[in-house]
Amino acid sequence: MLEAVQNETESGLPSRRAVLCGALALSLGLATDLASASVPASGISQSGGKLKIDLAKNKALAKVGGVVTIDLSDGRTIAVIRTSKAVNGYNSIDLSCTHNGVTVMQQGSNWICPAHGSEFTLPGKVVRGPARTALTKIPLTATAKTVTLG
Ligand code: FES
Repeated sequence: MLEAVQNETESGLPSRRAVLCGALALSLGLATDLASASVPASGISQSGGKLKIDLAKNKALAKVGGVVTIDLSDGRTIAVIRTSKAVNGYNSIDLSCTHNGVTVMQQGSNWICPAHGSEFTLPGKVVRGPARTALTKIPLTATAKTVTLG
């Protein structure tokens, strides 16, 4: 069983707050495949192959530009980003760089790849190569209380 670390940031804040959330065993065959997720972490539950994020426990997503990242047991990290104030104003992406798979890191309102310098917008669009394609989106649905991935 592996640990999951849930990280929250808010737009404009350079610091990154990491909260240990307990055990989470996820195994994703594809970036959009959450079918084999198994053990929930605090503020995140798993049901029917989907991850449900409790917005009351993930306050960073209350503000546009807020980000919550979730480290998966297969080494990948995914992010949920608040993109607008609309009930469904969220985006979720796999943070594996589309150039060669290295995990990108948030820098201000962009994601930067430490390997070769590719840069992506917060929702995942390519700003600078060598990556040529956007970060992989993960389908989601949202209500006023939860964001469900997968
Ligand atoms: S792996 Fe990200 S730019 Fe090469």
